[in-house]
Amino acid sequence: MKVTVVGSGNVGATVANVLAAKGFASEIVLIDIKEGLSEGKAMDMMQTAHMLNFDTTVVGVTNDYAATAGSQVVVVTSGIPRKPGMTREQLIGTNAKIVKSVVDQILEHSPEAILIIVSNPMDAMTYLTLKDTKLPRNRIIGQGGMLDSSRFRYYLAEALKEAGYPATPTDIDGMVVGGHADKTMVPLVSLATYRGIPVTQFLSEEAIQKAVEATKVGGATCTKLLGTSAWYAPGAAAAALVEAIALDAKKLIPCCVYLEGEYGEKDLCIGVPVILGKNGIEKIVEVEFSEAEKAKFAESVAAAREVNSKLADALK
Ligand code: 2OP
Repeated sequence: MKVTVVGSGNVGATVANVLAAKGFASEIVLIDIKEGLSEGKAMDMMQTAHMLNFDTTVVGVTNDYAATAGSQVVVVTSGIPRKPGMTREQLIGTNAKIVKSVVDQILEHSPEAILIIVSNPMDAMTYLTLKDTKLPRNRIIGQGGMLDSSRFRYYLAEALKEAGYPATPTDIDGMVVGGHADKTMVPLVSLATYRGIPVTQFLSEEAIQKAVEATKVGGATCTKLLGTSAWYAPGAAAAALVEAIALDAKKLIPCCVYLEGEYGEKDLCIGVPVILGKNGIEKIVEVEFSEAEKAKFAESVAAAREVNSKLADALK
């Protein structure tokens, strides 16, 4: 399995690093426009191979798309990250052109690749990729829900600890759907559990709402602390999607996908639960949300459509 990661910044390099450490890929190509950056990071990673005990070859190239030829999965992290105080949506003007150009070059060399879009505003970048390439929707996957769900689990575990239960994120099951956007992502409280028991049995409404709000601004909180956007969790999230596809794991994961009537919506890409396997999106899974969650999902859809309506201008 050959995987390409486009963009060797913090997120892209973390995707490559996590994937290399897992060792299932034969080759990972890191590509960036910045001279020497990918080569340096790839070399640094290869010098961990002995300690981390992996046989994956990590190759770094500057703008040489021929080196990415024959990739089965390609992760697109290109573009600029947000700075403190910015929304992801404000990046559209810069990132839309970059993502379009990257995807076109990738497909020239890897026409069969499954694409994982990470660049922000991710839901709009996934929609742009789908419309631009006209590829079947199973091959265009946006990464947002995996990351936001992982943050949700973290904040619920913190809330449980505060309430006197020794929870860690792996004790929690919880999913976030809707757009990868601070105000409108939808943590599904009704389906969140602590070792199979609804979190509502352990936490007050107030504690749950605090975890929900912290989840929604999880990326912004890191950005404020770091001065740029987060990378460990976003990188690990994208790597988890690659793994589910590479190993044909058929995992149920919330991903951004083009809807054609599922959840009563069509002609947009937004986060919903899907089964991920060797074909990319193997199935879109429709689950029952509470009435409040349905209303929030509808708001998230409206917000995503609003961002999509700015794509044509962003590409000018
Ligand atoms: C985040 O939420 C970068 O969008 C990414 O951290």
